[in-house]
Amino acid sequence: MLKELLIKTRSYRNFDKKQRIDRETLLELIALTRYVPSTANHQPLKFAYAYKEEDCDRIFPLLSWAGYIKENKPPYKGNEPAAYILVCYDTGISKDSPDVDVGICSQAIVMGAMEKGIGACMIGSMRKSEISEVFSLPSNIVPRLIIALGAPNEKIVLTDSVNGEIKYYRDENNTHYVPKRTLSEILLPEI
Ligand SMILES: Cc1cc2nc3c(=O)[nH]c(=O)nc-3n(C[C@H](O)[C@H](O)[C@H](O)COP(=O)(O)O)c2cc1C
Repeated sequence: MLKELLIKTRSYRNFDKKQRIDRETLLELIALTRYVPSTANHQPLKFAYAYKEEDCDRIFPLLSWAGYIKENKPPYKGNEPAAYILVCYDTGISKDSPDVDVGICSQAIVMGAMEKGIGACMIGSMRKSEISEVFSLPSNIVPRLIIALGAPNEKIVLTDSVNGEIKYYRDENNTHYVPKRTLSEILLPEI
């Protein structure tokens, strides 16, 4: 069921680092993006990936996690991601803003991952020039989003937001709560 998969597909920030993800799995996830729509069918996105532990260790410090959580920020030590997919756009293909395409492709990847039991977190906040260096990207390939992947190692609960409060938070057991606006709040008046 699509709804069940969507509910499960949360932003996971703690992973069982010992459960590694292989190259073939990452290629399968990237290949899913070939079946999604694209502005003017330009398909301007290019994908890099990393799965070896030493490469993941170089990428991890270049990312910012869970901005709303000020103390005891996830991922906790030993719970770092087991792989990454870097979503880039090719300025040689299209000069349009790639962001809608980035969102569509990234959601396909994280849902495809969840279907395989792999959790993900989209990360927009990264040190882009250092990421470009790690992946040896040419100047026409611009990183836009990185998707962290791994076996989920935390509990996440969706709640209805109250009074417009949308900041996620954690309790003393490190359960992560994500408030979502209610249907009545996101609906505009009927015409
Ligand atoms: C475009 C985009 C960029 C994001 N960037 C970050 C980020 O830099 N760091 C982070 O920890 N989470 C990031 N997230 C995850 C959001 O914080 C997360 O989607 C939000 O808290 C709602 O949680 P949910 O995905 O479980 O519904 C990003 C999500 C999106 C869609």
